[in-house]
Amino acid sequence: MSVRRLAPPEQQPKEFSFTKENLAWAKATIAKYPEGRQQSAVIPLLMRAQEQTGGWLPQKAIEYVADMLGMAQIRALEVATFYTQFILQPVGKKAHVQVCGTTPCRLRGADDIIEVCKHRISHDPFHVSADGNFSWEEVECLGACVNAPMAMIGKDTYEDLTPENFEKVLDGFAKDKPVKPGPQIDRQFSAPEGGPTTLKSVKAE
Ligand code: FES
Repeated sequence: MSVRRLAPPEQQPKEFSFTKENLAWAKATIAKYPEGRQQSAVIPLLMRAQEQTGGWLPQKAIEYVADMLGMAQIRALEVATFYTQFILQPVGKKAHVQVCGTTPCRLRGADDIIEVCKHRISHDPFHVSADGNFSWEEVECLGACVNAPMAMIGKDTYEDLTPENFEKVLDGFAKDKPVKPGPQIDRQFSAPEGGPTTLKSVKAE
């Protein structure tokens, strides 16, 4: 698990504000919550701020969202630093890879996927690759254990990874032609590999 810490001051932008479009979206989103419950919009607003900044959340963006919702800045900082969907350091322009490193994924080969990240992106997490396009980190279980090992990139998961098919996933992002998310082997969703394994001999009477 990576340490969840704000980026150092030299990487932090001096200010943040929503674009005109995102401001209109934020106001409409806040208006969906009952009077007095506007602070519940903190997660969608932080996500939109992260998207606007190119995939990570600067401190000024977190504080901006807190001020917009009339909540103490520390409360928004608590949310942003708790959930791994919020990324606190600058990331690669094309893809930030979140590799699951929890037990089921480790038992099914996450170490090999992390090795690919170390060789192909950078030895250490949150170090952007030399071409500026990729970065990676290790995260805890992302809920796709049945198709372990897996990684999340953006809003999609890539599952049943091997070093070979994971390289192809990264190639897709490098060429701006991402491969299809989900299992990267021949199986549908979480169905058994190679087809059904139970009730095969049951015949209709
Ligand atoms: S342990 Fe990796 S997705 Fe759950």
